[in-house]
Amino acid sequence: MVREGLTAAPKRLPPWLFYDAEGSRLFEAITALPEYYLTRTERAILADHGRSMMAQAAGGARLRIAELGAGSAEKTRLLLRAAMERQGAVKYEPIDVSASALDAARRRIERDLPGVHVTPLVMDYAHGNGRGLEFAAAADGERMLVLYIGSSIGNFEPKEAARLMRRLRAGLKPGDSLLLGVDLVKDGALLLAAYDDAAGVTEAFNKNLLARLNRELGSDFDVEAFAHRAVWNEAEGRIEMHLESRWAQRVRVTALDFETEFAEGETIHTENSYKFRPGQAEAMLADAGFRPTGAWSDARGWFCVCLGQVE
Ligand code: TRP
Repeated sequence: MVREGLTAAPKRLPPWLFYDAEGSRLFEAITALPEYYLTRTERAILADHGRSMMAQAAGGARLRIAELGAGSAEKTRLLLRAAMERQGAVKYEPIDVSASALDAARRRIERDLPGVHVTPLVMDYAHGNGRGLEFAAAADGERMLVLYIGSSIGNFEPKEAARLMRRLRAGLKPGDSLLLGVDLVKDGALLLAAYDDAAGVTEAFNKNLLARLNRELGSDFDVEAFAHRAVWNEAEGRIEMHLESRWAQRVRVTALDFETEFAEGETIHTENSYKFRPGQAEAMLADAGFRPTGAWSDARGWFCVCLGQVE
């Protein structure tokens, strides 16, 4: 995929490459940046409405919780706490591509929230060869609640997002549900700042991709010869991240035995972050076969957490 992407026109790299240990660490730093309103805003929504979300999802049954792209699972604790208040113990299965992030999450949750039984699963859930995602079978009287928060669904192309949600749906039974967190369309300058912060952490996160290729594939990227570029593509409703070649250069990727040329100003497209219009997330849930049964937002209307249930 690296060779294909770096020899394509336009050039691209797959976003899951971001999340090695260093990338996961930088991403955690992004979530605390003043410009990166997403995490803070979603956390406030979960703090204010987590109990209602858990009540709606449980409908009187016991919940068993799984989470895609759990990362550090920092915001998830609010929901786990709300679930524990209802039912005492909770089984929690965080799923992520980053083993280091999952390990840290498990240790912290077991320390701070005894009663939550954590079974982490290292998995590239985005590339499950088209099959349904299989969750551990829920016991009688248990309902599965899958969390997919942090606007991670927005990092997929709309078609891929729809496909992932259908796979999720295929792994669930009537009564189970999906809680989706999405970032909403807002003023372009606010959106851009969130992906191009003054301290340069997002820049470091983006460039870590090149450093990782150097470390793991023996490539000879001069990381400083590339600039971080964030673009608000209003027509597509997405923030794009690129790495722009500052001058004409040639790069060799030793382990994959190829070379590729960059023109001055040529970019590698590294990530999209789709932003949603009001009602769009509910429509996506419905298209994937979930009945939208709740939507919670902040007072400024910047972020939305929606619940969809399998009937
Ligand atoms: N899903 C979040 C977002 O789109 C987090 C994220 C994914 C992100 N890739 C990123 C944040 C790249 C900054 C840069 O915002």
